[in-house]
Amino acid sequence: MEDVVVHDQRANIIKAVDRETNRTNYPEDFPALPVVPAGRYGSQEFYDLEMKHLWPKSWLQVGHVCEFPQSGSYKLFEQLGLSIIISRGPDGEIRAFHNICRHRGSALLLEKQGVVPRRFVCPYHSWSYDPDGSLAGVPEARNFACLDKSSLGLLPVLCGTMRGMIFINLDPNAMPLATFFAPTEQQIGDFPLQDMVVKDVVTIPMDCNWKVSMDNFMEIYHVNTVHTKSIAPFLDSKTFTAELYKNGHARFATRKRASTIFGADKVTPDGPAQLYKDYSVVFPMFPNSFIPIDPVAMAWQTWWPLGPNKSVMILTMLGPKDDSEADKVFWKGMSAQIASIASEDMVLFADIQRNLESGLLPGVLMGYQEQALYWYQEEIDRRIGIERIPEHLRITPVLAGQMVD
Ligand code: FES
Ligand SMILES: [Fe+2]
Repeated sequence: MEDVVVHDQRANIIKAVDRETNRTNYPEDFPALPVVPAGRYGSQEFYDLEMKHLWPKSWLQVGHVCEFPQSGSYKLFEQLGLSIIISRGPDGEIRAFHNICRHRGSALLLEKQGVVPRRFVCPYHSWSYDPDGSLAGVPEARNFACLDKSSLGLLPVLCGTMRGMIFINLDPNAMPLATFFAPTEQQIGDFPLQDMVVKDVVTIPMDCNWKVSMDNFMEIYHVNTVHTKSIAPFLDSKTFTAELYKNGHARFATRKRASTIFGADKVTPDGPAQLYKDYSVVFPMFPNSFIPIDPVAMAWQTWWPLGPNKSVMILTMLGPKDDSEADKVFWKGMSAQIASIASEDMVLFADIQRNLESGLLPGVLMGYQEQALYWYQEEIDRRIGIERIPEHLRITPVLAGQMVD
């Protein structure tokens, strides 16, 4: 599996980390980051803009192929006020449909996850739909005038996979998934993300805007203060580097002080996995997904809005397939460890939210190590359309020149 991409990535990471280790001043060729208005984190006005122009036009990570092991396996995506069926058909393809019956709007599936072996059958009057969404059966069809079944299929949602990760997009004219994530996919190299399996899922409601929480995970600046005992001994935060990619994506790399964090001592010494034993490598994927690549234990995170100052974070733990008892024990400990680390961060969020809404703070300041926070905010404005954003809520784009092609 050792190939050119991995070599390039390793060389690139080592070089960037070494450069960062030796840096003593603010980089001369890097712009100062202007203040980000507090209203972007708490106002109804900005929330509404995101709900109208960001979420319905973005590729959203909704699952992993391992969650759909057989024909008929399905899961409901229930964020953003929606209910969307993600399901695997008998042809192996994973599709997405709004969970809405075309008769009178009942939800077709009520359980969050399961297997529907043949057809989706509405629990209200038993209209049934094939796995490809087409309307198959209408009881007592004689009661309907001019019933055109071909125009009454389930409402489809764009759906695609990248390295085993499943994404949907509510915009039928969206940029192709492969184009959108090309920078990240290239960087992931040969890492077998598609072969990982979900070990645990933790959903954490939060009293803050989704960006308050996501910002926290998009920088390492707080680690020495907040995670003094849990992470700081293992990560050399001074070596943290961010590369900014097109479409709002990024890559983080940090040198590990010790390889025991997240069970990395289980990694065999050969192959591309070695890179991740020595370096923590994370891919923030616009708009709301965060993938820490690790051959042993990954806590892939997504953040979803529930209101201007309410949100939810979903932690999906991924690891290599292993049905042994030892693996179960390992993951019990790992899930607890990851949840405990996250709780060290989360105690701060509600107060940050209150203070951002207080009117006392014009906005938030971001330093060089926090550049990825500013980068995704720039992308949010590009997605919404700068002309739609009131001046007091806009940010000034300054980072395009730092983007790595
Ligand atoms: S609402 Fe679904 S069959 Fe009537
Ligand atoms: Fe943290």
